[in-house]
Amino acid sequence: TMERTFLMLKPDAIQRGLIGEVIARLEKKGFQLVAMKFLRLTREMAEKHYEEHVGKPFFPGLVDYITSAPVVAMCWQGKDIVTVSRDLMGATNPAKAAPGTIRGTFAVDIGRNIIHGSDSPASAERELAIYFAPEDFVSWERNN
Ligand code: CMP
Repeated sequence: TMERTFLMLKPDAIQRGLIGEVIARLEKKGFQLVAMKFLRLTREMAEKHYEEHVGKPFFPGLVDYITSAPVVAMCWQGKDIVTVSRDLMGATNPAKAAPGTIRGTFAVDIGRNIIHGSDSPASAERELAIYFAPEDFVSWERNN
């Protein structure tokens, strides 16, 4: 099924100059960019984005990290993109992520794992609404 998801390049991807490499993988896979914004998260946005992790031991460190430098917030669409993009990203813990995946290739630290992807279509809609207004989504035809 055709779906859209929220993908975000995290501060470590920006700090390490990996924006282009990660976006290239998504484009070459055949997914379509629908919205994109370069911004630095406020603590309020970070707490909203990660509300399911409030109270966990890693939460304060997670908010410090995600607000430490800019991020690239994106909406992508494609066939079964929620699960397929998570397969491309690899396991949350990059030390366990399969070789060849984005995290398996570029990261080793769970607190510096390059990219975020929504875990369900419902999470995608909730997260997209934090970053984008309805007019930010651009629809276009991909011809190849
Ligand atoms: P993400 O998929 O963006 O969602 C929650 C994030 O919390 C996760 O990626 C990790 O970057 C971060 N995190 C940091 N420490 C941990 C941990 N010990 N367990 C799970 N997630 C962690």
